[in-house]
Order: sequence, then structure tokens, then C-alpha cells
Amino acid sequence: MDWDQRYKDGDKPWDKGSATPVLAELLTQAPEYFKPGIKTLVPGCGLGHDVSLLKNAGLDTYGLDISETALETARQTYPELGDVWIADDLFELKEKSPSYDLIWEHTCYCAILPEQRKDYIASALRILKPGGYFAGVFFINTGKAPNEGPPFSTTKQEIIETFSPHFDLARESKPSQSYPGRENREWVSIWRKPLNA
Ligand SMILES: C[S@@+](CC[C@H](N)C(=O)[O-])C[C@H]1O[C@@H](n2cnc3c(N)ncnc32)[C@H](O)[C@@H]1O
Repeated sequence: MDWDQRYKDGDKPWDKGSATPVLAELLTQAPEYFKPGIKTLVPGCGLGHDVSLLKNAGLDTYGLDISETALETARQTYPELGDVWIADDLFELKEKSPSYDLIWEHTCYCAILPEQRKDYIASALRILKPGGYFAGVFFINTGKAPNEGPPFSTTKQEIIETFSPHFDLARESKPSQSYPGRENREWVSIWRKPLNA
């Protein structure tokens, strides 16, 4: 998938022009995971709406994407955020040390190939501090056949099987707020990297 070309072509049906309502809801319902000042990464941040919401909530937030075009648009849309955009491949992260307290996942997990999910987890583990959190809203019913995508569908069971060997489940919920059309198709889970990992 040539993500940069899709942004250049304006072919970005995933972009709803604002942060996911799930994140706004979580900031209210579970503020203990989104403390002001914590270093946070949004992988596959696209046009940066979630980065803006998190940064405005006081988190020290960075948006990472493989698409320079997406990041340039994000830079122009949110100039007040400053130098928070990281052009990098999630699987080849230049950042190798565990410096992040939180990763916020939103439609990156479903964008990559299902066989790359373990590599995503490996990258997340590499950059998260011990005791850090991987919080995500997962698209669990994309309406596509298995192995057809993106977005590639997943299930709660698949996510649990993928994460639980490496993380402890701290919280899960069904969001009551979603983008129109994503209602009842999302699952929130927050995973803690063990202190001894
Ligand atoms: C479906 S879009 C979601 C974008 C954004 N999270 C949103 O909800 O609008 C997936 C994003 O992941 C990015 N992406 C895909 N593979 C990536 C990789 N290997 N490393 C970094 N970003 C990647 C794409 O460029 C794209 O912006």
C-alpha cells in the first residue's frame, strides 16, 4: 500500500476531519491513563487530529507516520503544535530507547497487514517505558472479509491473543461515542507493559 500516494490523491476515507470521539470520551472517563506531561506517541497519526486533541489535553504528544504528505498537511493544519511530527516507518523506528509513557493507537493496527501486527507490538515494546501503556481503539468489525483490506478486520480474541503474551490488560470498554458509521464496530483496550519487561 502506497500510503503517501493515497494522501496525494486525496483518497483517504478513514480521515473524518477530527479526532475520534472515542478519545475524547476516554480522556473524560479514564484520565489516569492520559496524565498531562506524559510522553505519548500516536503511530500512523495521519492528518494528526488525535495528536492535536492529546496535545491540547496537556500530554507531550508526537505523531508518527510513514507519509510525508500526511505530516505536511498535519503541520499546516496544526501549526500551533510545533515540531511534533515524526516521519518514520513504524517497523524501522529510529527511536530505539524506551522513552514513551503512552502509545495511542487508532486505525494503525487495522491499516497494516495482519502478519505485521507482531512487528508493531515489538516496536511498541521497544519504545515504551516499563509500566507504560498501549491504549487503543480497535476497529473490530470493518465489514471486510478476513485478510481483505485495509482496513483489516480483527476481533477482541485476536487482539487479546496478540497482546497478552507481552502486556497486561488494564482496562477495556465499548465506546459509547464513535464516528458516524463506526458505532458498535470498535473496542477500546488499554495494555500495560510489565515493569520487568
Ligand atoms: C488508516 S490510516 C489512519 C490515520 C489516522 N490514524 C486516522 O485515523 O485518520 C493509517 C495510517 O498509518 C500510516 N502507516 C501505515 N503504515 C505505516 C508504517 N509502517 N509506519 C508508519 N505509519 C504507517 C499511513 O500512512 C496512514 O496515515
